[in-house]
Amino acid sequence: MKKIIAANWKMNKNSKEAQETIQELSNILNNTLPEDREVIIFPSFISLEASVQCAGKQSVLQFGAQDVYPAKDGAFTGEISPSMILDAGAKWVLTGHSERRHIIKEENTLVGQKTSFALAGGLNVIACIGETLEQREAGRLYDVLSEQLSQTLAKLPTPLSPERLVIAYEPVWAIGTGKTAGTEDIVEAHAIIRELLKDIIGTSVFQTRILYGGSVKPENANAILGLKNVDGLLVGGASLKADSFAKIILA
Ligand code: 13P
Repeated sequence: MKKIIAANWKMNKNSKEAQETIQELSNILNNTLPEDREVIIFPSFISLEASVQCAGKQSVLQFGAQDVYPAKDGAFTGEISPSMILDAGAKWVLTGHSERRHIIKEENTLVGQKTSFALAGGLNVIACIGETLEQREAGRLYDVLSEQLSQTLAKLPTPLSPERLVIAYEPVWAIGTGKTAGTEDIVEAHAIIRELLKDIIGTSVFQTRILYGGSVKPENANAILGLKNVDGLLVGGASLKADSFAKIILA
């Protein structure tokens, strides 16, 4: 199973800046990316197509959108559909990112609809879950992960090949704060997710990759990647510069 190293660029970089970073990353990675790594970049919607084209057809880089709306087309101002993302040349989408849950107030039900609609529409999905500090301190880690995961994966299309669905564990208190979750916190949460996945999707559970995200940097990437049940990383801030992201990919 290849490890996924994903870059979530959030609301950063215009099209020119995105292409410059793609070019730099391509120069570093096109002949050096290890066989056991996959790299996925999530630029803003508006620079997605230009980023895909800049990388070119032979690129080792894959691309995705940061969000999707669960409808084929219609009167949904400001939204984009799975087929629009595929048309831009991207294969992946993020659902349920904590910034969408907490800033845009997206509920579990909508995250679930997005996840199943995107998968049914042909996109691969990285579905994000994670607890706030308040929830963790109240001893609610298991309940929050269970609720988010079961609702996110409530209506998965079948059959579904396991490599098309990836879970990202991103504790909200570790995102953009410089506070990486401790080794024990990560191992505990990933074990809970693996166990919950057994109940929700059954036999293919060990092929479902679980990524960690939250203040990943070149200095801690290798240690986190070596932890049990960590099948990759979802990186925010440290993915914005090609050299720092490349160090994480090659960690
Ligand atoms: P940071 O790496 O900036 O903490 O962001 C993590 C994240 O939200 C990735 O989706």
